[in-house]
Amino acid sequence: MKTPEKFALKVKDKIRAQINSATSNKHLYSQKDFLYERKGPWPQPSPVHPWGESPAVIHVPFREVADWWLWIGLRYMATLPLAPFYYLKAKIIPGLKEVTNKEFEDLLNYSMMSKFLSDQLDEEDWRVFSDYNKDEREWFIVDLDAVRVVKTFPGIYASASKTLLYKEGERFIVQAIYIKDTETVFDISEDSDAWELAKYFVLQGGALCATLVVHPLLHFPFDSINAISKTSLPKEHVLFKLLSPHFRFTLPLENAVLNYKSSLLQEKWWMVYAPYPGGPAGLRDLLVEGYKGIKGNLSYPPFSYSLNSPSVEGKYGIYLKSYYEVFYKFVSEILSDVEDGDFWITKWSDYCHQHVNDFPKGNDIFKGDTLVKAVTTYLFTVTVAHATDHYNYGILDKRQVPLRLRQAPPKKGDKMMKRSKLVKAWDQMKYSMADNLFFSPTTVTKLIDANYKFKCPRRRKAVITFKKDLIDLDRKLKKEGIEYMPLNKISASIQF
Ligand SMILES: [Fe+2]
Repeated sequence: MKTPEKFALKVKDKIRAQINSATSNKHLYSQKDFLYERKGPWPQPSPVHPWGESPAVIHVPFREVADWWLWIGLRYMATLPLAPFYYLKAKIIPGLKEVTNKEFEDLLNYSMMSKFLSDQLDEEDWRVFSDYNKDEREWFIVDLDAVRVVKTFPGIYASASKTLLYKEGERFIVQAIYIKDTETVFDISEDSDAWELAKYFVLQGGALCATLVVHPLLHFPFDSINAISKTSLPKEHVLFKLLSPHFRFTLPLENAVLNYKSSLLQEKWWMVYAPYPGGPAGLRDLLVEGYKGIKGNLSYPPFSYSLNSPSVEGKYGIYLKSYYEVFYKFVSEILSDVEDGDFWITKWSDYCHQHVNDFPKGNDIFKGDTLVKAVTTYLFTVTVAHATDHYNYGILDKRQVPLRLRQAPPKKGDKMMKRSKLVKAWDQMKYSMADNLFFSPTTVTKLIDANYKFKCPRRRKAVITFKKDLIDLDRKLKKEGIEYMPLNKISASIQF
């Protein structure tokens, strides 16, 4: 740039800074340089449960709400007329399907429910499974204790449960199921009606905990970062450019789920898309169990912003870790020339720290690779981790993984009613609708198409390398038989 031009730009910046309340002379950004002129969305205590749920963003800019309605809300409306067809389908093919022991074990080993596998057996777990020798095997537990807060409707049942497994080679072998409501342990060797019914209660508990306890932790705590970044980072800042392709649709979606009267969490009888077994109070308590954790239960620690890839057993864990590493490499390259103590990142980090448990403070964000890890966690979570949970849950056979059950939890010797009667057509219709609308992913913007708008050639090259790395990983995982979600369906943001 020629000297007179440089001088003119400097003068312009100085004037702009003075009349637009720049933070200091050193930081020549005016209000106009921010997406919403520093008047954008911001987190606040959750209106429904200020101390039990993560902070929520309830004042969402109109243009974001309109964008969401156009691309997502209208699809919901257009899908509603499908309800009678799903009802008819459930009448023609009624009830549940058999779940063999092998299928049951596969679901706990390989589906997104493998997130529940834990080797942290606590006192309560060993009290329940006291008949088994602690030292004999490498024991694991699938603890679905959170289900106890669900208050079911008359004639519909759910129960907390614990499933005991042991590791043999790479596989987790099911040994026994404990059903909390009847305080009964069923061993796999029993081969009885009660065992068959117990498996459905575990899978129902898995579905409830998947959709309302652990999956929400990929949604709601991250909303604060979405809002804070839009409001506090200048549009030209490298961190804003890196994060912003991953913001779209999320805030209006979350607000609709958490606060709209028409949300499936309201679980009114007439809501053809609300599939859960009980009313809104119990369902919201599931969210609280996930966010606050369950005291004394090692399977349910409170939410903490992680600076590492999620610790998940089995193939799903390998899949998630592999993607996390690709994001880490990309973020490292993009942020490699960010100065230590960057003013805007320090402020951003402090704001996030105020609203997101264990998010690093501005003082700590420049220590080692903390910044890279914090940003990697955000990008990875709102894209791969979130979308793949949906995709995998979406392909589960809903006639094997029910959300409602019409028979009480089993005691020893109980006979199971006919599978065709275990759920009603109305239950299955609601489930199919929810699956179509909310559980199965409907990707509007793709991760692989993310447009970062970097001007610097080094960063543009890093984006090309990142996308190539994603494609290579997708192919490599497929070859290894670790297929969870095709890359070209992974969304760029939380949009379902
Ligand atoms: Fe989701």
